[in-house]
Amino acid sequence: MTQKIAVLPGDGIGPEIIEEAIKVLDFLNTDMALGLEFEHGLIGGAAYDETGSPFPATTVELVKQADAVLLGAVGGYKWESLDIAVRPEKGLLGLRSELQLFSNLRPAILYPQLADASTLKSEVVSGLDIMIVRELTGGIYFGQPRGIRILENGEKQGYNTLVYSESEIRRIGHSAFRIAQKRNKRLCSVDKANVLECTELWREVMSEVGKEYPDVELSHMYVDNASMQLVRAPKQFDVMVTTNMFGDILSDTASMLTGSIGMLPSASLDVNSKGMYEPIHGSAPDISGQGIANPLATILSAAMMLRYTFNIGAAADRIEQAVHDALDANVRTADIYSAGMQKISTSEMGDTVVNALQAGVK
Ligand code: IPM
Ligand code: MG
Repeated sequence: MTQKIAVLPGDGIGPEIIEEAIKVLDFLNTDMALGLEFEHGLIGGAAYDETGSPFPATTVELVKQADAVLLGAVGGYKWESLDIAVRPEKGLLGLRSELQLFSNLRPAILYPQLADASTLKSEVVSGLDIMIVRELTGGIYFGQPRGIRILENGEKQGYNTLVYSESEIRRIGHSAFRIAQKRNKRLCSVDKANVLECTELWREVMSEVGKEYPDVELSHMYVDNASMQLVRAPKQFDVMVTTNMFGDILSDTASMLTGSIGMLPSASLDVNSKGMYEPIHGSAPDISGQGIANPLATILSAAMMLRYTFNIGAAADRIEQAVHDALDANVRTADIYSAGMQKISTSEMGDTVVNALQAGVK
């Protein structure tokens, strides 16, 4: 059976890191006869430059027909002054919304070899394994009304709307509880229920959904406290579930516990586990074109794709083991470099992972 993957490299370091993930998938495709087929498309600033839209109709078609989407990153200085409606980020948001990818999984795992790369003490982060489940198609990112208006006194006023319906909360709740059931059965729901009615409802609905999962221990935490606890004692968490914007912020924090934002993959799933896979980091225009970006988050995103959409856990395991082995070989890209290691380029890291796959036990 063939599986069609839409590949959207995007902007900045996107094309560089995607190339390495494809290298890894190509190897496994041959080695394990996975039947993966790739079709490239445009997204973000690259798409805007060519078509005038960050999410052109051809890409909409491509991702709708594909079984999964692998995405690099979008955005860059060049497009910052564009109208918000055609900015590269709108392409990514349009894609998430179009495919209804409401459940965003962001695992923060510390590879033991990187304990020293984290800015936190190694005893605080060693053994870290958290899953952040971020709601991805609702909340303040999509709420209406939104915009910048002119008040009667001539002053401008910016406004956005934080809105969640019960069904949206329930849907992401079920997703998070099911994930917790497969892990250590602890779920922490993060909100700001002391101030925002919208998340008061979030807390209420999460508690209701929790009744259907008596085996999972549900707790609630305010987001300000959660951000503190993440850097104070991150290992207290197993699975966290939160809104679109809180999840955006907390997952960047969590990434630094793992040594670098260049290590965190993500899966964005619809109700049928069709998914889009991307590293959580951005397009890093400051380092793009230099061949120094870390491709591991994208390679690990490809592993998540094999696991969650294609149900080929064995292939995903092999990639994750190969990343482990690559780090064991003491090679590091600049972002995770520490003394005594060998500093290597983006493509050398991709090659190291492929070599590790080749050398690894099947
Ligand atoms: C992320 C990114 C995006 C987001 C941007 C690029 C729109 O920061 O995936 O975390 O805010 O969701
Ligand atoms: Mg983000």
